[in-house]
Amino acid sequence: MKTVQIEDLLKEMTLTEKIAQLTQLTPQFFSGASSDGEITGPMAELGLKAEDLKNIGSVLGTHTAEEVMKIQEAYLKTNRLGIPLVFMADVIHGYRTIFPIPLAIGATWNADLAQKVAEISAIEASEAGVHVTFSPMVDLVRDPRWGRVMESTGEDAYLNSYFARAFVKGYQGEHGELATNFDRVAACVKHFAAYGAAEAGREYNTVDTSVRELYQNYLPAYQAAIEAGVLLVMTAFNTVDGIPATGNQWLMQDVLRKDLGFTGLVISDWGAVGELINHGVAENSKEAAYQSIQAGVDLEMMTSCYLQNLEALVMENHVQIEQIDAAVLAVLNLKNALGLFEDPYRGLKTVAPTKKLRTMSDNHRRVAREVAAESVVLLKNKNYALPLRKEQKIAVVGPLAESQDVLGAWSWIGEQTESHHLADGLKMALPNVVSVGWQQNQQVTAEELAASRTIAHDADIVVVALGESSESSGEAASLATIRLPVEQEQFLAELADLGKPVVTVVFGGRPLDLSDISFHSTALVMAWFPGTEAGTGIADVLSGNVSPSGKLPMSFPVTTGQVPVYYNHLKTGRPAHVGNNEQKYISRYLDIPNEPLYDFGFGLSYTTFAYSNVKQSHHKITYQEQLTFEVTVTNTGKLAGKETVQLYLEDVVATVARPVKELRRFEKIYLEAGESQVVTFNLTLEDLCYYQRNLDFKADLGNFNVYLGGSSQAEKVGSFELI
Ligand code: BGC
Ligand code: BGC
Repeated sequence: MKTVQIEDLLKEMTLTEKIAQLTQLTPQFFSGASSDGEITGPMAELGLKAEDLKNIGSVLGTHTAEEVMKIQEAYLKTNRLGIPLVFMADVIHGYRTIFPIPLAIGATWNADLAQKVAEISAIEASEAGVHVTFSPMVDLVRDPRWGRVMESTGEDAYLNSYFARAFVKGYQGEHGELATNFDRVAACVKHFAAYGAAEAGREYNTVDTSVRELYQNYLPAYQAAIEAGVLLVMTAFNTVDGIPATGNQWLMQDVLRKDLGFTGLVISDWGAVGELINHGVAENSKEAAYQSIQAGVDLEMMTSCYLQNLEALVMENHVQIEQIDAAVLAVLNLKNALGLFEDPYRGLKTVAPTKKLRTMSDNHRRVAREVAAESVVLLKNKNYALPLRKEQKIAVVGPLAESQDVLGAWSWIGEQTESHHLADGLKMALPNVVSVGWQQNQQVTAEELAASRTIAHDADIVVVALGESSESSGEAASLATIRLPVEQEQFLAELADLGKPVVTVVFGGRPLDLSDISFHSTALVMAWFPGTEAGTGIADVLSGNVSPSGKLPMSFPVTTGQVPVYYNHLKTGRPAHVGNNEQKYISRYLDIPNEPLYDFGFGLSYTTFAYSNVKQSHHKITYQEQLTFEVTVTNTGKLAGKETVQLYLEDVVATVARPVKELRRFEKIYLEAGESQVVTFNLTLEDLCYYQRNLDFKADLGNFNVYLGGSSQAEKVGSFELI
């Protein structure tokens, strides 16, 4: 439809029809509507009448194309103006073909792969009738106790922004083609804002960040998604500066609309409008509706505060009709952008029954395997225990050796039975593999223990698969202790006593305390939740088909009490450094080091890389000039491999305390054994800017240090002065 037609449509709508467009419900409400019996259950709880369902604007969480077609068809028969429903769902790391969790995708440092993941997710979601995905989540995360770190791409604003762009492009396409290309879905960036900073890592808890910190670290990834054209933004459950995000006018209007320039649809998170009452900032649903519509939340998910109260609020002149119209227009514009007025089924009805669906195609599984392999992070590899060799007798044991619980917490439509477990993958890759798994993740039986011992005893090398269950991370899965269960640690310690090499593969949705695990392991691999192709992807790495190239997107702490620990922390007045170990009045722990066990950006390969011959274009630059850093990276080992070359900057003196260093550029390169490549990084003025005392985004005159290398522990290679 043309814009004028949308505007005409809006004029045709009654106030009741308009308000109903601003509510989103699950499909069960719509199936309820088809029977004309008594209204009970959820509908009654929300105070809904069967009449309301004729006008409700959108549905979340449908499962199949058939369901979508049925609901849409019935709906269009009753909706007076023929405005189609829009269907939304959480397609977070794949629809049916499940890819590694987003945190694992973060470990690839590879936007092409992330974009491919999003493209395939969009195709599979579209085939099931989904029009909008509630993804990407771009919340910056520093506290692994929070279960939702698995949905994020980690602790760094630059890396998060890089992936935010890739996901949005992959879902929506890059050329505004949603109305005609039904392989694409609209994306919804979430959770605005700073949800990742929940205090003490406890789910749905308070967030209290300074405005500077919000702008400096939490907002850039949203900004990147908005610049990539994301059509929806979801509000967060948490407070920001004491005011719940969903009713926070400053956050939604001044920050999101004005500063970040967002012009699309704002949707509340599930029930978040109603939760303003629980937060204690609204007395009842009328106040909750008032605050949310004032803040600029267009669409209310799964509570009926708008439906019950907006009409009265307009009649009483508390809410202006223009505000309602703006929200309705946002909904209609989204439907129009998706081509729903022209085809409310987005191609589903016109597909020939014989057309083969692409969902779970070989190609999709192949990509899932590639991403799984590239997300694996090799944390330790003593005596080159890895890769495994064909002639070795290999025992695969542990709770996750034969477990198909490898998909991760947001895998909704994914089927565990369609996944490959680790033993499966290794047996396909190598000739001499035997395995014993645990039936239950956390508890080993006496028989399993005995059988594991026997095969481990007979083997040349033991692969032990440990980890969390996928239910231990994700939404509403906070942990106070991020250590593996004691049974698993004991099991590993016992295997280590056999005196043969032990390769530990850890599955998990968060950085874990791996101090003891690392101590008892000859080699240590972080596999995350790799998805449908878990076993094959990990086996590609363990067998040496693929050299590991994952780098941590989030620091792994020495122990839970060290969190939040992140690489780009601010400078303190009494920093700990080599040489002041003996001094007391220093910012440090008495019992553990300040540094994490494994740093942001860290990950080993089967080969080694040397950095040499750093050249910089200038030692002094003016505001107008660009600065170039060049480094030669050489594969000095015997195998081919990929390296992520990372450049960090430090602003030596600034108007506010600044991080010890910050990621500013990186490039992932592939090198054959012995091969060298020159990597060039161009820095611009924007890379030197930060939010100053008065919150202006500007650069300081003065000195900057440059660090280059394969992790956030990169060495200082040069400095320059902005004059
Ligand atoms: C989550 C969102 C999700 C929504 C819809 C909420 O509980 O916080 O991330 O998109 O549910 O399922
Ligand atoms: C402490 C202060 C104390 C001062 C003088 C500092 O190190 O932080 O609390 O008053 O020394 O002793």
